[in-house]
Amino acid sequence: MKNILVIYFTQTGQAKQCIDAVLKPFTQNPNYKIHYELIQPKKKFSYPWKYTEFMDVFPENVQGIPCELESLKTDLSINFDLIFIAYQPWFLSVCRPINSFLLSTEAKQLLNNKPVITIINCRNMWLTAQEKMKIHLKKLNANLVGNITFVDKSANLTSLVTVLAFELSGVKEKFMGFFPKYGVSDKDLAIAPEVGILIENALNKNDFSTLQSNIVSKKLVSVKSNLLLLEGRGKVLFPLYANYISKKGTAGSKDRKTRVRIFGIVLPTAILIFSPIITLVSRLAPLIVSRKIKKEIDYYSQNTLRN
Ligand SMILES: Cc1cc2nc3c(=O)[nH]c(=O)nc-3n(C[C@H](O)[C@H](O)[C@H](O)COP(=O)(O)O)c2cc1C
Repeated sequence: MKNILVIYFTQTGQAKQCIDAVLKPFTQNPNYKIHYELIQPKKKFSYPWKYTEFMDVFPENVQGIPCELESLKTDLSINFDLIFIAYQPWFLSVCRPINSFLLSTEAKQLLNNKPVITIINCRNMWLTAQEKMKIHLKKLNANLVGNITFVDKSANLTSLVTVLAFELSGVKEKFMGFFPKYGVSDKDLAIAPEVGILIENALNKNDFSTLQSNIVSKKLVSVKSNLLLLEGRGKVLFPLYANYISKKGTAGSKDRKTRVRIFGIVLPTAILIFSPIITLVSRLAPLIVSRKIKKEIDYYSQNTLRN
């Protein structure tokens, strides 16, 4: 019997929905024992979020500062055959609970020399967070053999509105009566068990070498050129603004509230302004620098880390 560990964090259950879809072939099979480990911060993040609270997690999340976690329930002495990590990007970085786990001594023990598959669920921007994940896994001597992404399929500005309605008011369906439902697509969830079968085959052959290209051909890795360019801006600017806020105080402190509020206005405004411009550039870019864009899309579709 093979032991599979699923490490995950979720606030609204979407991550668990994605896990269940990918692991469907495993759950119906007595040859596998699945161990679930829900990562729980000692101080819970509220859901739905208050806007200032939502923005206040930005600095420490981008800086990768760990928070305290509840103890794990998993038996650390089990030699797991495969480990899944299901997470969400927060502000283009690995969400704080999972980032904190990855910095723990337990992670060192559990992940050392193990094949790992990441399952990401998010609005649509996960590239920079996954680069940080790759760095963590490299330091932990884990072997990233697969990455599956579940994203919202609406246009970027539409999902900017619907994600905020979802995170701040808990509204998922038809915000204001006409916006589309927020969240991971039912179509992707329906395809996910097929990827589960591919994972099962790879695990049993102990050969994951073609897994990622198979996941890509099932279209369960979403890399779009406009979002790639938009993330490129955020990746450079976010650490600067995170430092600017944290200079004024630690998480939740009154002294930094003004800077947090300014960020809460600047960020959606910048996305509103830059998103259409960048979408236009991304439509033109392949005509001018097609090889470079294609190279970038290929890079983010696979699991190795750039030098
Ligand atoms: C603080 C915070 C920051 C977020 N930042 C991003 C982001 O950078 N990129 C993205 O695509 N989605 C982002 N999201 C959206 C979540 O990743 C998304 O809503 C996720 O699907 C929720 O997962 P859950 O239902 O498993 O809790 C953010 C959400 C929160 C709460």
